Amino acid sequence: MSPMRARLKNAKLKTSVPPRWRKEVERVLITEAQLARRVKTLAGEVEKDFRGREMVIVSLLSGTVMFLADLIRHLDLPLRLDFMGVSSYGSGTESGELVFTKELRLEVHGRDVLLVDDILDTGKTMSRVLPKIRALKPRRIKTCVLLDKPARRVEKIHADYVGFAIPDLFVVGYGLDFAERYRNLPFVGVLHPHIYQESGKTKPAP
Ligand code: IMP
Ligand code: MG
Repeated sequence: MSPMRARLKNAKLKTSVPPRWRKEVERVLITEAQLARRVKTLAGEVEKDFRGREMVIVSLLSGTVMFLADLIRHLDLPLRLDFMGVSSYGSGTESGELVFTKELRLEVHGRDVLLVDDILDTGKTMSRVLPKIRALKPRRIKTCVLLDKPARRVEKIHADYVGFAIPDLFVVGYGLDFAERYRNLPFVGVLHPHIYQESGKTKPAP
């Protein structure tokens, strides 16, 4: 299914927030079942494109944890896995100055790299990370993100594999955080506005 169809289908679906999260989460945007289905399909596409290659998955910390775990368990390929740590400077959620908190350790020279991130927003993260990997001379680099917010793009970046294109909303869950929380939600959701006020942090853009 294309990201566009996934998005349309999703817009029609109304699911309620599980009781234990109701105080914090306003609504579910993508359900656990939708995530599971889509990630399996994405894995199928990746598998087809990388078959027979020396594959290295480079995953960005920490937002990719759940997506990555689900994606790779469906990949029936001899792959290697490494992580890069990239963090926005300060605790704000708006992508600003980026710092690298963990560098790659695996050899990617001549290999096929799949760069995995949780969400493609302004594109600033990818536009900093891609040249760093390119400098290591992989055979090729493909990019894979669970979520894409095309409306917010600043850099000329696209992802080769996209789970869901979503509207201009700040989302949490399934690995994605607000102020390092909510990564453990099994679905992707939107927080109540009061959470941002009480946290003392500014509501992340958008
Ligand atoms: P970009 O550099 O603006 O493309 O943003 C990418 C990074 O910003 C992601 O890896 C996330 O860590 C973070 N981010 C962007 N949008 C959201 C969101 O809606 N929820 C949680 N994190 C987000
Ligand atoms: Mg983040």
